[in-house]
Amino acid sequence: MTTLMIRRPDDMHLHLRDGAMLQGVLPESARHFARAIIMPNLVPPVVTGDQAAAYRDRILAALPDGMAFEPLMTLYLTEGTDADDVAAAHASGLVKAVKLYPAGATTNSHSGVANFDAVMPVLDRMADIGLPLCVHGEVTTPEVDIFDREAVFIDTVLAPLRARVPGLRVIMEHITTQQGVDYAASGGPDLAATITTHHLCINRNHILAGGIRPHYYCLPVAKRESHRLALRRAATSGKACYFLGTDSAPHVDALKEHACGCAGCFTATNTMGILAQVFEDEDALDRLEGFSSAHGAAFYRLPPNAGQLHLIRRDAPETYPEKILTEAGPVSVFNPGFPVHWHVAG
Ligand code: DOR
Ligand code: ZN
Repeated sequence: MTTLMIRRPDDMHLHLRDGAMLQGVLPESARHFARAIIMPNLVPPVVTGDQAAAYRDRILAALPDGMAFEPLMTLYLTEGTDADDVAAAHASGLVKAVKLYPAGATTNSHSGVANFDAVMPVLDRMADIGLPLCVHGEVTTPEVDIFDREAVFIDTVLAPLRARVPGLRVIMEHITTQQGVDYAASGGPDLAATITTHHLCINRNHILAGGIRPHYYCLPVAKRESHRLALRRAATSGKACYFLGTDSAPHVDALKEHACGCAGCFTATNTMGILAQVFEDEDALDRLEGFSSAHGAAFYRLPPNAGQLHLIRRDAPETYPEKILTEAGPVSVFNPGFPVHWHVAG
């Protein structure tokens, strides 16, 4: 197959940031994606409905003329979050999910949740109204090895939490392990998982073997090869509980190439070409549309997108810009480390 037409995709986990960075990276997503679930980990975080409405306005104001893109807003769950405010933001159609960051888990997560008792009223209300919880699934306990943090989170936090709040709809964000793959499939219709582009491409050797490569450092950190293969099997399985959330997370190069480098891979520019290559390599091109354009919308109870995306395969590998030059500084584009023959037409 050399050409592929799929329904226009949705990115169900995206960091757009704010200000000059937002301006620089938004076209990279809007070019291919109709909608995206927008992460709320700004400084300060997007906690209230009013803050989400203002952030949505800033995103739409940054959208270049002639581009269509619908930001699907989320709220950052804190121990001070007001259940009535969350319910009102959901009822108005503004907010599509609430994001749980365990305190200290990742970029700008210090306002996250340490004491789950404090957020029970919000979670109970979310279960009542069917508003999904997006979960960054890693424990932050210093004693737990960073490569074990997702698996330990599932056993010690997520499973007890789901038992405590029956009916809560949960998306396990950016799963990176066989345990995440298995748990997501075991939870019935109220549980799903997003998978990133980069976790389908790299394992921990790519970050650490033969020199440290900061542009491959993200959270959750990529695991060993067997886990990457489990993620590829899950993404290409056709199962509705797995869908695309790129976690494209821009940081300027100066903060990636640093003594204490930021976590995040910037994949907005070349995600769809890379995914087509991965699905072709797994002999599953017919399942790309489900993963990138159907399963996520179905879980979020959104109508499917009307438009289409046309992908073309060329014998010569595609080239992408090495960096996106934003007014905030240059942002390196993710390099999958293998030739990508697919590109988006137009
Ligand atoms: O790699 C990551 N970058 N993982 C996250 O959870 C946050 C994100 C960011 O905001 O930079
Ligand atoms: Zn993220």
